[in-house]
Amino acid sequence: MKALSARGRRLLLGGLLGVFSILGAACGGDAGPQDFLSPEGPVAERADGLWDLTFAIAAIIFVIVEGVLVYTLVRFRRRAGRPAAQFHGNTKVEVVLTLIPTLILAGLAVPTVKAIADLAEEPQNALNVKVVARQFWWEYEYDNGLITANEMHVPTGQPVFLTLEGQDVIHSFWIPKLTGKQDVVPGRVNHMQFEADRPGEYWGQCTEYCGLSHANMRLRVIAHEPAEFDRWMEDQQEPAAASVSGRAAEGEEIFMQNCITCHAIQGTDAKGRSAPDLTHFASRGTFAGAMFENNTENLKAWIDNPEAVKPGALMPDYGLSSDEIDAVVAYLQSLE
Ligand code: CUA
Repeated sequence: MKALSARGRRLLLGGLLGVFSILGAACGGDAGPQDFLSPEGPVAERADGLWDLTFAIAAIIFVIVEGVLVYTLVRFRRRAGRPAAQFHGNTKVEVVLTLIPTLILAGLAVPTVKAIADLAEEPQNALNVKVVARQFWWEYEYDNGLITANEMHVPTGQPVFLTLEGQDVIHSFWIPKLTGKQDVVPGRVNHMQFEADRPGEYWGQCTEYCGLSHANMRLRVIAHEPAEFDRWMEDQQEPAAASVSGRAAEGEEIFMQNCITCHAIQGTDAKGRSAPDLTHFASRGTFAGAMFENNTENLKAWIDNPEAVKPGALMPDYGLSSDEIDAVVAYLQSLE
């Protein structure tokens, strides 16, 4: 095959770039549960509006600048008997080209700073939730004292005002569809807010590298219609199952011998605060930083060897026998 000329190679490269740009754009659309370009609720929509504005201005500038560039390259290129034109050191042009971007950026700063200031304020009638980040899971404490983990339930149509506190290293809280990112820093108190318009499950993620299982530090926000949220809250405030029997009772005994230094179960002797509160564990869809679906198989694997399924997890392997693990799983599944 004949080798391509320099011109042919350039055309081929340009063509390929064009094709890949179009293919890349196909990744857009509804890109999945953590797509921040399909915002839900007023807070995310406000941020998205700023993005749209910035993108539109940038797109216009791109077209103008590239248009002038291409025109100049063609119009003033070297030709037979004439060198390429050179422009350099034109003070007037340089002042204008510095002023225009300065004015554009100053103009963009106005709505941006206003949005940041507005969203920093605690909204009226907000549901207050304290978020504590730990390697590698999230604790939520509602202002009525209810503590839960990883899955945050909220009502629709009401602002949620978060107070974020770190316990070990820096994490960052992010629910892409609902709100922006906010770092969670030990020794500092940060705030953020969001509001879900529609019931549903919103996925989130720790977004500051925090150790081996940073990628496994996930979260869920589950939004309910207000009446349903109230029902959820009532159920959660009940103590855990008062009496368990059979395998679950055996599991409870093993749990109380091994797990209560770290875990709490309201209404029992388990009062540990360094690991997730498991009071209504069976009502959760996921566990261990919202990483695993809450089912028998996953629970067994997790208790058997946490490190094997979630690197760096602080939950120890207590060397329980398979029979003991079955009993503990039965107990956990009784905590509805
Ligand atoms: Cu927590 Cu990354």
